[in-house]
Amino acid sequence: MSKPLQAFIFDLDGVITDTAEYHYLAWKKLGEELGIPFTREFNEELKGVSRMDSLEKILTLGNRQNDFSQDEKEALATKKNEHYVQLIANITPKDILPGIKELLAEVKAAGYKLGLASVSKNAFAVMESLELKSEFDVIVDAATIVRGKPDPEIFLTAAKLLNVDANACIGIEDAAAGVDSIKDAGMFAVGVGSAETLAKADLVYPSTDKLSFGEIVKMHQEK
Ligand code: BG6
Ligand code: MG
Repeated sequence: MSKPLQAFIFDLDGVITDTAEYHYLAWKKLGEELGIPFTREFNEELKGVSRMDSLEKILTLGNRQNDFSQDEKEALATKKNEHYVQLIANITPKDILPGIKELLAEVKAAGYKLGLASVSKNAFAVMESLELKSEFDVIVDAATIVRGKPDPEIFLTAAKLLNVDANACIGIEDAAAGVDSIKDAGMFAVGVGSAETLAKADLVYPSTDKLSFGEIVKMHQEK
């Protein structure tokens, strides 16, 4: 049995807002420039993964992992990020995905704590553009952790800072790497996206507008 529920910990990109699409577009452009085109299916492997680890995966796909020095790799990652930053320049609260505001309100009204677990170095800027920063009790981003998703460190750090047990938390993710991170942290995992890709989650919804606070709480209790 899980401990009584105490907190919800959200991923950012692809859960709170559709920045997952912008990460995809920016990597796709860089991949094409390097002669490494890739599909949306391959992109699923990049979701939730840190900037440098994503670059390594793309270079490995094109069998070019040994073609660049560390400095050159950093320059490639910077190029991708510059494009990404352009794509997110005009984000406003209107870009919060359907159903998320309502879910955040229900979480708060029920007295649960709210955490954010994002490996993105742009997480604070995006949260500020969405005007959501002050809603969260804790924001854990790339600067706070050593190991990115799928390692459980980021969700465990969020639970620790919220001062709650891992099994009293619900983690919400759109990425397979993120679901692995939640499960290895010992939390209840809610996936948003394809049930096939997110098969390890305890509960999967096809999109954010389908997220049901009541059902999530009930399923966590029954686990
Ligand atoms: C994650 C995204 O939230 O952040 C990944 O799902 C992204 O696609 C990662 O690579 C790192 O983001 P950033 O903004 O630090 O390059
Ligand atoms: Mg995500």
